[in-house]
Amino acid sequence: MKHTIKTIFSMKLKKEKITALTAYDFLTAKFLDESGIDIILVGDSLSNVFQGNKTTLPVTLDEMIYHAKIVTSAVKNALVIVDMPFLSYQVSETDAIKNCGRIMKETNCYGVKLEGGIEIANIVKKLTSIGIPVMGHLGLTPQSINQFGDYSLRATEKNEAKKLLSDAKILETSNCFSIVLEKIPSQLAKKVTASVSIPTIGIGAGIHCDGQILVTHDILGMFEEFNLKFVRKYFDGAKVFKEVFSKYKDDVKKKKFPNEKESF
Ligand code: KIV
Repeated sequence: MKHTIKTIFSMKLKKEKITALTAYDFLTAKFLDESGIDIILVGDSLSNVFQGNKTTLPVTLDEMIYHAKIVTSAVKNALVIVDMPFLSYQVSETDAIKNCGRIMKETNCYGVKLEGGIEIANIVKKLTSIGIPVMGHLGLTPQSINQFGDYSLRATEKNEAKKLLSDAKILETSNCFSIVLEKIPSQLAKKVTASVSIPTIGIGAGIHCDGQILVTHDILGMFEEFNLKFVRKYFDGAKVFKEVFSKYKDDVKKKKFPNEKESF
């Protein structure tokens, strides 16, 4: 099925879970699409995963555009959403329109994702009023990591939980088509999901969200340095990749590659 924001919205009504994963390159995007993943996010996590930065802050708008163009060229059915990088939408409404406009015009994606609640409500209203679909992102918002200081569970305090619920409702009335809920208690995610008509997509937010998103490299087990509680590793990527690379190295060193069949 070719997805639009309408088909994603209708999945919430039908109580059909929404699947989402990240991609930054052609082949991953193609495999995700061919596997029937509903939403492909060109996440600013590419700053960490692809560029090796410690946070999502350094990735630029031009770099997001470069990766997003590649991803959309591989995708036939999934809804491709692109993260707006840090400071590309917070400075002014004019900046936000110009930068989100560039993403839409230059990458062929379906919409953008912005982090924040009430603080970005006016920008979201403006963007959606001119035809740019917006996905919200609440809870652990990695672009504000320096404000928080760490990647711990969010909205555990009553006031923070109350603000998150209110932010979700504000994003809904500002016309967001869905909201990512990152690393918040499962019961709070359940309450938010029941309180808004738009789909919630959880990451570390429990089973009650309308859909789930994870970073593709995490489910492929590409990181040995950390084990995130909310990630399910479906593959031991780091181990398998290193085994393959050292087998190749040994074969070349021992003059076992190429053999007769692999030669002309
Ligand atoms: O950048 C990202 O990958 C995200 C997540 C929701 C996975 O924002």
